[in-house]
Amino acid sequence: MDVLTCAALSLGEVQLANGLSKTKSGTVQLASNAAILFLGQYLLLKFYRVFLFHRYFSPFRHLPGPKDNHFLFGQSINFIRSESPNDLYIKWMKQWPDAPIIRYLGVFNREVLVVNSLTSYKNLVQTNCYALAKPGWWRGVTRDIVGDGIIVMEGEEHRTHRKMLSGILSAPSVKKLEPVVWEKAREVGRLFDSAIAATPDGKTGVIPSSDTFSMFTLDIMGRITLGFDMNHLGSTAEAYQQGKSETSHSYSPSSSKEIQPTFHEAYMSLFGQSDFGNLLMFVNAYFPVRWLPFEANRIYVRGAKWINRTLLSIIRKRQEEVRRDTEAGKYEKQNSRDMLTFLVEETLPGGPAEGLKENHFLGHILQLMAGGVDTTASMISWSSYVMAKHHDIQDKLQAEILDFLSRVPEPTYPDIDTLPYLNGFVKEVLRLYCPGKTILPPFWFDVLPRYLALLHQPPWAKSCHLLILSETATTIHRQALQAIVLDGLPVPQGTEIDAAFAMPMRNPLIWGDDAEQVRPERWLHLTAAQKSPYAFPCFNNGPRMCIGKNLAYLEMKVVLVEIVRQYRFVGVVTEPKITSPSLLLHGHGLEVSVERIGNA
Ligand code: HEM
Repeated sequence: MDVLTCAALSLGEVQLANGLSKTKSGTVQLASNAAILFLGQYLLLKFYRVFLFHRYFSPFRHLPGPKDNHFLFGQSINFIRSESPNDLYIKWMKQWPDAPIIRYLGVFNREVLVVNSLTSYKNLVQTNCYALAKPGWWRGVTRDIVGDGIIVMEGEEHRTHRKMLSGILSAPSVKKLEPVVWEKAREVGRLFDSAIAATPDGKTGVIPSSDTFSMFTLDIMGRITLGFDMNHLGSTAEAYQQGKSETSHSYSPSSSKEIQPTFHEAYMSLFGQSDFGNLLMFVNAYFPVRWLPFEANRIYVRGAKWINRTLLSIIRKRQEEVRRDTEAGKYEKQNSRDMLTFLVEETLPGGPAEGLKENHFLGHILQLMAGGVDTTASMISWSSYVMAKHHDIQDKLQAEILDFLSRVPEPTYPDIDTLPYLNGFVKEVLRLYCPGKTILPPFWFDVLPRYLALLHQPPWAKSCHLLILSETATTIHRQALQAIVLDGLPVPQGTEIDAAFAMPMRNPLIWGDDAEQVRPERWLHLTAAQKSPYAFPCFNNGPRMCIGKNLAYLEMKVVLVEIVRQYRFVGVVTEPKITSPSLLLHGHGLEVSVERIGNA
């Protein structure tokens, strides 16, 4: 835009000067004058934007916000140095707990607003939801990986498709998925038993928490989106029994085998890329680089093609079966149908999704899987961490669950959903370790500096990983498509706005002085402010609120009941590593020790 403005201005000036002058210049002279003017004006404009605007002219210059800025990169270096992706946002929230909006500067001192009051957050995600959009770079990268589904849609298109998909994960639909979740939760128990039996004392097993619960959610999502069992939990339990330290599903990004990948391998080639693979992914959002002969490209393309081909053939086959049987009058809707079958039924003539294009079909299925695997897994993994660290909390949870099961030995989800301490525990873990949805940082402003930092390895880059696309994130980014108002503050078109979930969820003005502590009891007596959905935005709110929220609660509560009724987390064997700098909050590498109840 600046280029166009300066070009138009310099051409106009040259024409005007030439018109007023008595001696007319030739074309070459005019062009070189225009080029000099363009360069001068462009540099001046950039100088104004980078160094003067935010300080002297911006309407936001009086807003509270950090002042320890790098002269060119604003807070970016501080983001890179911070230990957790939440740190800076929480620091600012604590410094200005009652400021509705905080301003910080990014690379080249671009201004970013951060919502910090319940009203400004509501105005961002509810009141003005469709007056804002996810930034273009974000949609480009996401579309490259998980296709053309709901996550990358905006405005009217999003509204229509969201309505189409709403039935898939509504409370009644999720109820039908319950048996699969119980079955898989019991498999987690069998995996724990195998891990315990494989130890020398046969008493205390060590569980790689994040991997185990990723398998749990991936197996569930395979069953409920596509209707087939990937059986990662079962094969891992077998691996324990055979004394293998490496599980059969583990994925090596450098693997060059030509055999067909398993679903997990293909999934990991998209979602578990190497640092270089992640870098290529971002560059590809701007310039096509997938054709370059790098191993990372080869792995990515192979995985993506396999997933697309396999899913498309499953989708087409299911469509064909349902259509054929419907036309023959033989088709009956199944109670336990998976999401794919549900969507195929919706696309039948007269159905709410009639005419759904194949690329959208594929994108929705892929995004439901992607959205549902690591978010929930991460939460269950953090739950095991909390129990392993706080035995008093684990004891109370266990007492409630065992007491309940003594009265209701075969509970259903609606039964366990009434348990107050379990509910408080799950919400408290979500409040303090909220994962959110995958959000990717802008390549030029965030990823590239991190990548360069990694290459040069300055001291602060020791803990700096380039795990960009991962499962869980803590911040959402939006850009105003038109002028809006946030808690009384007029915000012009084009403004970038962040919402960091941890800010309202750890704000002492809302949650009290013990906001940083895990205290499931607090959920038994909430204040009016704590009851606001905007005080607990872990699944976001408004029209873009998480579509899988009901399923996520079902999975978390069912697996906790299954585990806590039989096992006890004894301690943390390996502390989780939080990837930072990053917008993600995933406890990589967490290992907990676990015993059967009665063996403690
Ligand atoms: C603890 C678990 C989960 C958390 C914390 C979570 C969080 C979120 C958040 C914060 C958003 C909004 C992102 C934004 O506005 O930019 C979101 C959207 C979404 N989530 Fe989840 N999620 C979880 C589980 C799931 C599950 C189990 C599924 C699928 C079965 C799922 C599928 C989706 C989809 C498809 C969207 C996009 C919705 C839209 O744009 O309309 N999520 N999630």
